[in-house]
Amino acid sequence: MEANPASAVESLRRGIEEGANHIDTAEMYAEGAVEEIVGRALHGLREKVFVVSKVQPFNADHRGVIFSCEQSLKRLNVEILDVYLLHWRGKKAPLEETFRAFERLKSDGKIRHWGVSNFGLKDMEEAVQLVGDGVIACNQVVYHLEKRIIEPEILPFCRKHKVPVVAYSPLGEGRIPKSPILDSVAQSHGATPAQVCLAFLTRDPAVFAIPKASDLRHVRENVRSMRLSLAEDEIRRIDATFPIRKKS
Ligand SMILES: NC(=O)c1ccc[n+]([C@@H]2O[C@H](COP(=O)([O-])OP(=O)(O)OC[C@H]3O[C@@H](n4cnc5c(N)ncnc54)[C@H](OP(=O)(O)O)[C@@H]3O)[C@@H](O)[C@H]2O)c1
Repeated sequence: MEANPASAVESLRRGIEEGANHIDTAEMYAEGAVEEIVGRALHGLREKVFVVSKVQPFNADHRGVIFSCEQSLKRLNVEILDVYLLHWRGKKAPLEETFRAFERLKSDGKIRHWGVSNFGLKDMEEAVQLVGDGVIACNQVVYHLEKRIIEPEILPFCRKHKVPVVAYSPLGEGRIPKSPILDSVAQSHGATPAQVCLAFLTRDPAVFAIPKASDLRHVRENVRSMRLSLAEDEIRRIDATFPIRKKS
C-alpha cells in the first residue's frame, strides 16, 4: 500500500499523461484503499484508461460478485469497468455461478468484459467448457523471464481457445535479471534490459504485459517497449539463457 496517497494519485495521473493506458487493481489491494487512490487519479482522465478490477474468490457467489463490483465502481468513481476478473479460483461458489453474475453485470452495463486470474490448466479447461471460446477476456497470470511456467500448457490452451493471456509481475517484481544477453540485445536496439524482457514476453500476440511503475522514467520506458520487436535469433538467445523450468 502506498505510504502517501496524494503522491500515489499524482504519479498515477502523470503516468497516464505519459501514455500509460491500463490500470490494474483489485478489491483486495489494501482492502479497497488502492481502488480509492485510482478513483482519485482517474478524475477527468477516465476515457484515456482501460480499468481492470478483481473480485476475491470468497465473494464470488452471485450476490457477492454483484455487491463487490458495485463497491469497486463506487471506490473507483467510474460508471463501468473495462474488465472484471475473478482474482483466483476459490470454493465459495461454482464457476458457473460466478460467470452468470459476470454476465448479469455485463447486461446491466457495469462491466464491459470479464475474465479470470491465476487459473491453471484444469481451471481453464473447466471455464472454457462452460462458456466456449472467445468469451473470457483474459487469464491474468504471473509470467516473467525467470518464471515461464505458463508456456508449455496454459499459454497454448489459452491461445487455442481465444483467451488472451495477461502477464502480471512481468519484470519479476523489479528483479530484472542481470545478463550479458539481455544487455547486448538491449544495446543493439537502443533499449533497456527491462524493455527487452517485456518485448520477449509479448512476442506472442496472445500475450499482453502489465508492468507496474511508479518512477516516470520507468513508465516511459514501458510504454515505448510496445514498439520493440525482437528478431528470431534474439528470441532464441534469450530463450536459451532463461529456459522454462517446471517449478520456478
Ligand atoms: N492477478 C494477480 O494475482 C496479481 C498478482 C500480483 C500483481 N498483479 C498485478 O501486476 C502488476 C505488476 O506486477 P508487480 O508490481 O508485482 O511486478 P512488476 O511489474 O514485475 O515489477 C514492478 C517493479 O518493477 C520496477 N520497474 C517497472 N518498470 C521498470 C523499468 N522499465 N525498468 C526497471 N524497473 C522497472 C518498478 O519500479 P518503480 O515502481 O520504481 O517504477 C517496480 O519496483 C501490478 O500492477 C498488479 O496489479 C496481479
